[in-house]
Amino acid sequence: MSRSAHPAGPRHADVMTEGHYTAPPADLNALDEKVWARTVTRDEDGVITVGGIGVTRLAEEFGTPAYFLDESDFRARCRAWADAFGRDADVFYAGKAFLSRAVVRWLQEEGLNLDVCSGGELTCALDAGMPAERIAFHGNNKTVAEIERAVAVGVGRIVLDSFQEIARVAHIAQRLGKRQRVQIRVTVGVEAHTHEFIATAHEDQKFGIALAGGQAAEAVRRALTLDGLELIGIHSHIGSQIFDMAGFEVSARRVVQLLAEVRDEHGVELPEIDLGGGLGIAYTSEDDPREPHEIAKALGDIVTRECEAAGLATPRISVEPGRAIVGPTAFTLYEVGTIKPLEGLRTYVSVDGGMSDNIRTALYDAEYTVALASRTSDAEPMLARVVGKHCESGDIVVKDAFLPSDLAPGDLIAVPATGAYCRSMASNYNHALRPPVVAVRDGQARVIVRRETEEDLLCLDVG
Ligand code: LLP
Repeated sequence: MSRSAHPAGPRHADVMTEGHYTAPPADLNALDEKVWARTVTRDEDGVITVGGIGVTRLAEEFGTPAYFLDESDFRARCRAWADAFGRDADVFYAGKAFLSRAVVRWLQEEGLNLDVCSGGELTCALDAGMPAERIAFHGNNKTVAEIERAVAVGVGRIVLDSFQEIARVAHIAQRLGKRQRVQIRVTVGVEAHTHEFIATAHEDQKFGIALAGGQAAEAVRRALTLDGLELIGIHSHIGSQIFDMAGFEVSARRVVQLLAEVRDEHGVELPEIDLGGGLGIAYTSEDDPREPHEIAKALGDIVTRECEAAGLATPRISVEPGRAIVGPTAFTLYEVGTIKPLEGLRTYVSVDGGMSDNIRTALYDAEYTVALASRTSDAEPMLARVVGKHCESGDIVVKDAFLPSDLAPGDLIAVPATGAYCRSMASNYNHALRPPVVAVRDGQARVIVRRETEEDLLCLDVG
């Protein structure tokens, strides 16, 4: 396996189809609805619009680079997940994908819960009025202060990630006179990415407590004896950008086996299992994601079947999609600055952002696509690499994609499917100012995270 393969990447390097962009698409102006947010289209002048507003107007008003988020698409995806899983299951949006106070309000309005994994995310959630009981608190090394706060405000569950944390949370809860609802995160020996999963030898990671060697059973034993804890279930998260349900199947089977062992040993049937997030989205036309109702049915069937086989009542299921909700709802808009054709290779198109607003290409070898957004063009396609303005040759936003050969400085180009893990992983590298997130809905655009300013940079630098 390639050393550059990253567990969170859309593809392992060893299954990446080499040069799959060597043939240009039939129509460079077409917008594949799989990849673009739902209200994205081109107007009669060929300008890409979202929520009824053209990108030329958006760029004038909000500048570039900027993320434009299709609010009605975000809300529709929340509803689709909530409806698909129904009343007997809980959907926790994974805030790490992208979190802001507006997002927290949309989640509440659309009936979703929230998974946070830091004190900062918890603050954002509480500040925007998310009821604490609808929050799950994750993380492999929560600080004592974070745990104290989570317990004190009454989060719905803390997902315990280590033996130390079992003792720590129990102690803090007892000290605060509380009984904290908790789940134990286990590693089931499965790692899944995109179209493959590996069912052995993936305990070698920092998260969770291994099922192997009776570790997870021991964790359950301890949690059940501690007064400060109410153990409500087992949690498993197997990877990112997954299309193949086979990894979930193995995971669910192993978690249910643990539930059966717990019943046999302690006479207790734990009422919940959480199968984590990781469901894939389309970054390019080659990706084929599943709809929430298919995922809900597949997961429900697996858990029901395994529980029947083990003679257990079916537990309440929860899931934690992040990318699958917010990922497809946004695109990043850039202005083209310079264009360098390299004879026999490709054309480098430099934009006004880069790895500071999308680190995923550099970090995970992620695939993206790109479209000329401020107009259409009938010019011949050229093989392009969209790069940023940072002092680093790995500063690539889109590795290989076709753009029209009449592309010119000043044109606007848009990279779709940047809603997840782009703004949330953005940095100030080279003192870049992190771009704003603008929510667009029914002809109205409003900033939900403003652009950083140079004053913002300097106010952290105390001189
Ligand atoms: N639940 C747990 C416990 C997780 O660790 C994660 C992601 C999720 C849910 C949400 O996964 P999602 O549905 O969004 O794939 N920065 C990487 C992804 C890291 C994901 C870490 N955990 C990326 O850009 O691909």
